[in-house]
Amino acid sequence: MSFLVKIREKAREVQKSVVLPEGTDERVITAAAKIVELGVARPIVLGHREDMERIANDLGISLRGVEVIEAKNPPKLETYAAKLAELRAKKGMTIEQAREILLNDPNFYGAMMVKMKDADAMVSGSDSPTADVLRAGLQIIGTRPGIKTVSSVFVMELTERQDTYGDVLLFGDCSVIPVPTAEQLADIAEASVVTAHNVVGMEGKVALMTFSTKGSAHHPDIDVVIEAGKILEERNVKFHYIAEVQADAAIVKSVAMKKCPESKVAGNANILIFPNLAAGNIGYKLVQRLAGANAYGPLIQGLAAPINDLSRGCSVDDIVNLVAITAVQAAE
Ligand code: ACO
Repeated sequence: MSFLVKIREKAREVQKSVVLPEGTDERVITAAAKIVELGVARPIVLGHREDMERIANDLGISLRGVEVIEAKNPPKLETYAAKLAELRAKKGMTIEQAREILLNDPNFYGAMMVKMKDADAMVSGSDSPTADVLRAGLQIIGTRPGIKTVSSVFVMELTERQDTYGDVLLFGDCSVIPVPTAEQLADIAEASVVTAHNVVGMEGKVALMTFSTKGSAHHPDIDVVIEAGKILEERNVKFHYIAEVQADAAIVKSVAMKKCPESKVAGNANILIFPNLAAGNIGYKLVQRLAGANAYGPLIQGLAAPINDLSRGCSVDDIVNLVAITAVQAAE
């Protein structure tokens, strides 16, 4: 069974509400109708009711089952503004500023709905850059108790060579932290193992990758990855990992046998941690485009409630699928 079929099944079981704050986007309106039809979540769309109904009529779709929140005059504006001003008081935010932000930035209103438990999760980004969606999550939702780092993974579903590499690999962090410290790399590894378990049902075997394998080259950038491995050792984590490994040794058994035969993970890693955002972002896009892998995500991990980000080039199905995954995250 494909990753998507499994995810949609799980999402139907858990029945979470997911807010889509970009209800001015035709794709979001169409996706909301499809989410209801498939039963993968209870969509709440922030938009202008009359415009949405006109667009739905033109597209020949029904908005039955879609909860619409009027963005021009949102019902809980005052309650949310008071709470947002309280949350950001340390940054000097006044209630007037909070009201202004909530009226003008749908990502912030959507995130406040999640914060106030009026929605279980949020999916946004069809019409806003990643950083805007992330900032709403960071400033309003914040990290889970005991978690310092918010990061992300892509679920990479391979469409060929599954016999060699498995059906699904996780790639992290490809969208949040530009230059992670050793501690953040260790956090990304730990969070990715949790996501692998909760979302994919997979036991994570982690490779912290760089451009050397076990001392084959020396550079300050490599030292950061080695240090991340030491931190995982000190934390006494319960999953298998290898730190300081090249991508080929991480996933190709014959290469691993030559470069690091003593490792339990090398040659069959299923969570690939990139040393920085440039490598991760380029890496997942190359695998997606050149190897035809399906890339689901980025799935944001470490927030106290799930908020996920869409690409601005997303399709209706991309939105539906990310909502289903987000609903599953919300259930964990
Ligand atoms: N984990 C935990 N906390 C964080 C993180 C993080 N990764 N990043 C920021 N914070 C904290 C900040 O310290 C701040 O705390 P404070 O309110 O107590 O001061 C709070 O979260 C709010 O942060 P901001 O100042 O609003 O955000 P910041 O300027 O730090 O930017 C951001 C964070 C948006 C994630 C930034 O690192 C970024 O732009 N990352 C790259 C995003 C991107 O463009 N990705 C590539 C495209 S995605 C793709 O192709 C799939």
